[in-house]
Amino acid sequence: MSAFDHVAASLPDPFRILWRETVSSTNDELRALAEKRTAEGLILIADEQTAGRGRRGAAWLSPKGENLAFSILLRPTESKALWHRLSLVAGLAVADALEAYVPAAEIKWPNDVRVSEKKIAGILVEAGADFVIIGIGINVNSTGFPEELAATSLREELGVEMDRAEVLHGVINRLSRRAGEIGVGFEGMLKSIRERCALTGHRVSFLSADKRREGVVKGIGTAGELLVEIDGVTESLVQADEVRIVG
Ligand code: BTN
Repeated sequence: MSAFDHVAASLPDPFRILWRETVSSTNDELRALAEKRTAEGLILIADEQTAGRGRRGAAWLSPKGENLAFSILLRPTESKALWHRLSLVAGLAVADALEAYVPAAEIKWPNDVRVSEKKIAGILVEAGADFVIIGIGINVNSTGFPEELAATSLREELGVEMDRAEVLHGVINRLSRRAGEIGVGFEGMLKSIRERCALTGHRVSFLSADKRREGVVKGIGTAGELLVEIDGVTESLVQADEVRIVG
């Protein structure tokens, strides 16, 4: 019996839930299942992670039973070169699902979702030989984030406790409609991604190939890359880390 049983039966095909009270990291444990040829659509969700991970090895902390920490197994048929777009697709699915509760959710390229200019969700997409794992952490019911974290949760925003299963259901419904559109159909999705881009027009500092650089974000390109003007030249960044708005 888990908090997710009441939504399990109404998830779109092929999505199904495997709930665990405690795991190390849902991404790591789902990878082990993926390597044993588990079919796509499995969602591993845990009430507690003892070694939850963010990008660049950062820890992802989440008090037991308060938030959502889950990973989704996909086996895309599109070229592997397009799989990185799943970060944006997942960001859009999360932002869109959260907008059922809050007025606006933004995508902070490539892997964060923000509400009220604070981080509410993080996404960690990792690929194997023939599979992708989309790990998603959403702050649902935690409160009292330290100021320096610049984080928020649905409960912080709304003042009431939220049903984690309902939020999960909203994300999976949206992801199921969009995950098949990283090739054909991606351009259609770009409009919604661009509308929610938190970085456009801002000066940002970011890490690229382990070097810190700065520039002004011009938008998101047709392949989902970040367009940044640096010293008068617009560069396309397929990957960058620790992106911070500095102006
Ligand atoms: C980030 O903001 O850097 C990404 C955070 C991703 C956290 C989620 S929680 C579920 C899944 N399992 C993990 O170990 N990480 C992701």
